[in-house]
Amino acid sequence: MSEAEIPIELDRTSPASLSAQVASQLRSAILSGLLQAEHTLPATRRLATELGVSRGVVVRAFEQLSGEGFLESLGTGGTKVAVRPDIQQGPIEERANSSTPVHAEVIDLTPGRPSGSPFQDREWRNAWKRALAEQGNTHLPPALGTLALREAVASHLAVSRGLAVEPEDVIITGGTSDALHLVVAMLRGRRNNPRILVEDPGYPTARRVMTAAGAQIQLLPVDEDGLKSSQLAGLKVIPDAVLITPSHQYPLGGRMAVQERLGLLKWADRHGVLVLEDDYDSEFRHSRMPLPAIASLPAQADVVLLGTFSKNLSPWLRCGYLAVRGDAGRRLKAARVALDTPVAGILQSALAYYLQGGGLSRHIARARREYSHRRSLLIERLGSRTDVELAALDGGLHAVIRFDQPDAAEVAAKALERGVRVIPLAGYYAERTPENGLVIGYGAVTDLQLSKALTVLGTLLSEQP
Ligand SMILES: Cc1ncc(COP(=O)(O)O)c(C=O)c1O
Repeated sequence: MSEAEIPIELDRTSPASLSAQVASQLRSAILSGLLQAEHTLPATRRLATELGVSRGVVVRAFEQLSGEGFLESLGTGGTKVAVRPDIQQGPIEERANSSTPVHAEVIDLTPGRPSGSPFQDREWRNAWKRALAEQGNTHLPPALGTLALREAVASHLAVSRGLAVEPEDVIITGGTSDALHLVVAMLRGRRNNPRILVEDPGYPTARRVMTAAGAQIQLLPVDEDGLKSSQLAGLKVIPDAVLITPSHQYPLGGRMAVQERLGLLKWADRHGVLVLEDDYDSEFRHSRMPLPAIASLPAQADVVLLGTFSKNLSPWLRCGYLAVRGDAGRRLKAARVALDTPVAGILQSALAYYLQGGGLSRHIARARREYSHRRSLLIERLGSRTDVELAALDGGLHAVIRFDQPDAAEVAAKALERGVRVIPLAGYYAERTPENGLVIGYGAVTDLQLSKALTVLGTLLSEQP
């Protein structure tokens, strides 16, 4: 691999920021073929010195282009131009309308897939090296999780969610699915088929896992801001637990108002209902500030916060946590001890090092910039259409589009033929008549892929039925 000579000229009188200028000139050099896949880029510090700017300017430009898929970090080995021959073939809009055959590779907009970059991150690799170097761990990992990871999660929750939780009230899980399985196992200690109230539309995997674990699912129709406490008063059967996504209703994307949260807690306390707060992506807010977690509000009711590393790091890890309190917390810990942990000790050690060293916070900050950039792209491309309503944009890694025509399932099928996978909103509804729309996950694609996918979707949405 050869190091690239980069002709960058900065205009200090321009209204564009210095990092935007560096990013734009590098992008043009890649698109024109001047910089190619075999080129590495100079170290950020050296390039910064050559350009007479601070290193942060160059780092921001590199991060921006990595998010767009033009550059790839090699960890300590520097940064290289990404192997993306499709980038260098000309503007996407031109190619989408041409007779060029569809790429064999599908652009996957399935929600729930985050940016894949943490595994290239030097801090991540170092955390694993330290975990591998630990001597003498020939025993089973503790059932509730290693103390180091429970402490690191407690600190993360304090900083990111304002939640004061003691490490001993954190249980490390194999992600949200495992956590829900554990909750149902715990509730079955009192009732064979515990009743769990869930949002409709909602997270289909949660419904499936809890049913398979022996729960009866009760559905509550909700709008994009989630459950309203007034709906609870009308319930004929009081459930054992209620599972909600108050920070970012899944998939519609609103958030539960503080008054509703307080109303829910009062009702839960009165009827002894366990509140399960699925806090799956609240680190990624793009516009409004997140509301405090329900688990951080003063209340008598038992609340369990379900957290996951699937969105802020990767679902490939299969790891998450519960923050528990009260009687339900004690019973959950007992259930976990009885059932043992499915989470590998070495993974817990590596994660603990990564969190303690600040790697996760830095990764979240980088990913947040990437996601908010892609969200802007979505708004830019679809926001002005009068036939499409764009929603779920406040946070997270996905957005929702609603439209009257054409039929969303047909759009999804035709999009797949043209190399774009997108999921119809209908898949999230259990009982209610679904709205016509699509869920667009933009976590794992580059800006260029997203732009291309939006061109395909834009064309399909304009087609007459
Ligand atoms: C609503 C919701 N909760 C939680 C999760 C994370 O689940 P897990 O931790 O099992 O990967 C997801 C992932 O897509 C989700 O959409």
